[in-house]
Amino acid sequence: MRVTLIFMCGIVGYVGEEPALPFMMDGLKRLEYRGYDSAGIAVVENGAIEIVKKAGKLEVLEKALVGHESTGTCGIGHTRWATHGGPNDANAHPHTDCSGRIAIIHNGIIENFLELRDRLREDGHELRSETDTEAIAHLIESEMVGNLTAAVRKALAQVTGAFSIAVVSADEPGLVVAAKRTSPLIVGVGAGGTMLASDPTALLPITREMVHILDDQVVEIRADGYRITTLEGADAEGQAITVEGDLVAVEKGGYDDFMLKEIYEQPAAVRDTLRGRTHDGGRIVMDELRLNERDVRNIDKVFVVACGTAFHAGLVAKYAIEHWTRLPVEIEIASEFRYRDPILDRDTLVVAVSQSGETIDTLEAVRHAREQHAKILTVSNTVGSSIPRESDGVLYMRAGPEIGVAATKTFTTQITALEILALWLAQVRGSLYAKECAEIVEEMHRLPELIRRALECRPAVKRIADDIASCRDVLFIGRHVGYPSALEGALKLKEISYLHAEGYAAGELKHGPIALIEEGVPVIAIANRCHVYEKVISNIQEVKARGANVIAVVTEGDTEAARHADSVIEVPETENELLAPIVTAVPLQLLAYEVAKVRGNDVDQPRNLAKSVTVE
Ligand code: G6P
Repeated sequence: MRVTLIFMCGIVGYVGEEPALPFMMDGLKRLEYRGYDSAGIAVVENGAIEIVKKAGKLEVLEKALVGHESTGTCGIGHTRWATHGGPNDANAHPHTDCSGRIAIIHNGIIENFLELRDRLREDGHELRSETDTEAIAHLIESEMVGNLTAAVRKALAQVTGAFSIAVVSADEPGLVVAAKRTSPLIVGVGAGGTMLASDPTALLPITREMVHILDDQVVEIRADGYRITTLEGADAEGQAITVEGDLVAVEKGGYDDFMLKEIYEQPAAVRDTLRGRTHDGGRIVMDELRLNERDVRNIDKVFVVACGTAFHAGLVAKYAIEHWTRLPVEIEIASEFRYRDPILDRDTLVVAVSQSGETIDTLEAVRHAREQHAKILTVSNTVGSSIPRESDGVLYMRAGPEIGVAATKTFTTQITALEILALWLAQVRGSLYAKECAEIVEEMHRLPELIRRALECRPAVKRIADDIASCRDVLFIGRHVGYPSALEGALKLKEISYLHAEGYAAGELKHGPIALIEEGVPVIAIANRCHVYEKVISNIQEVKARGANVIAVVTEGDTEAARHADSVIEVPETENELLAPIVTAVPLQLLAYEVAKVRGNDVDQPRNLAKSVTVE
């Protein structure tokens, strides 16, 4: 069975006859390949819970545990990939209730956490972190009349969002209660005890026979086994799996490469970007905002600054921000921005886009803009990274860690987050009716399903890739938001296949690049149904007449485009064409991937490239 899952955080739990700590640390190490920002453990020992947690990599926690005599045989452990609250000791998991007698770890996003935290504070609870998770610890505390399992059930009934949680109580040693909705949770029984984790890799040392806990199930693990029930308390069963293959294959979730896994994670990643961001018929909520709405209303010009793939996402954002807010938007490659003396003042908004939040050129562009008193809003995937820290507001993409160097899920989630940001600007400035905004938001929520359907094009893409792999040049063309899609398609192909590829605005082709067209040169045309569709068809005819091998990315069921192209790749339609690049990205990513595979390249670590570029 192949499972596509996004692991925002890694969780482990152990109950057995031996000390829990070594099992948990070994499990956490096996999850570390995804890169994390803090880690912690809780062990039930001598009628109390002992917690050690540290910001930084797992080795920081390991150092803190040196000389630590831990004999407790029941515990939980966590590596965090921050989604709410920066990566510091206080926000690291496990979190406790007020009494310190209940500890919890969590993977996922609690959507109603702000409301829960407010209510808990009113009821006298003292919250010590900025996380969504801590709210659940206090909810369990307030529901604790019977046993831990019953309190967990009652607490989860009040929670919306995605979670896999594991909870221990000082009053019930020898028991870990876990539950799941959307985020993964797996249990396994070995010779010395029972373990749970968010990822099969963590359980491999004790067993290859595992059980996936299903949505809205609760599992109690004890030294001699586990019991699964529904959230309501009825007996239930999980889904048994046998894990085969080596560790690396397991880390890749059964996919051949991280890049392919990340391409397939996009429906879930985009869903997580949207999760909890929109309320009350489309009202948008920002993560962190250190600007007041009056400042936002005074903005008279926007700059988008970014590098690489983020620049292409930013180009889509230019179209969206201009259309929805009627503000003029300039887009600039971050490394050029500050050297051309851009005209900025306190009424200028700079939107920085950086998945890592560390790209030095983007950071320096932000610093330059700050010096000129511009306002900065950032879209990033890395909580607490440098660019968000130096910005006035942040919207996190929550794509989960991306290991493949060529950006895939961070591209589509960047566009998603930027379009949320554009809608938020429109909302604050009153440039869209609430109803229009709500309609767009509603369609955004359909994107994960559209991406899932777009992924079905892989067999068609594979056939085309075989042809392209031996070509010298490949051109990508598109108009309107099809233009940034073409740029990104060409960049992906260049990055991992090492073929020469260029993206062009389709209308610009006749002003030079058309000279490159000769018999059989592949031209990938972004030709999905939109207001410039007819124009793109004309451009297809221009290159076709000169011998190009035209591969058109078209809207499902479009027979007209198919008449003009040599081959077509169909993608589902988005009613709002500004959302289309999120779907059309999928076949272009798959095309680059398949061509690179035919050419025998290492797709996860292409030559000369780095995931995060921190030199100018
Ligand atoms: C590097 C990566 C690209 C990425 C660019 C910007 O060049 O290889 O995939 O698009 O940096 O990265 P950022 O983290 O700022 O989005």
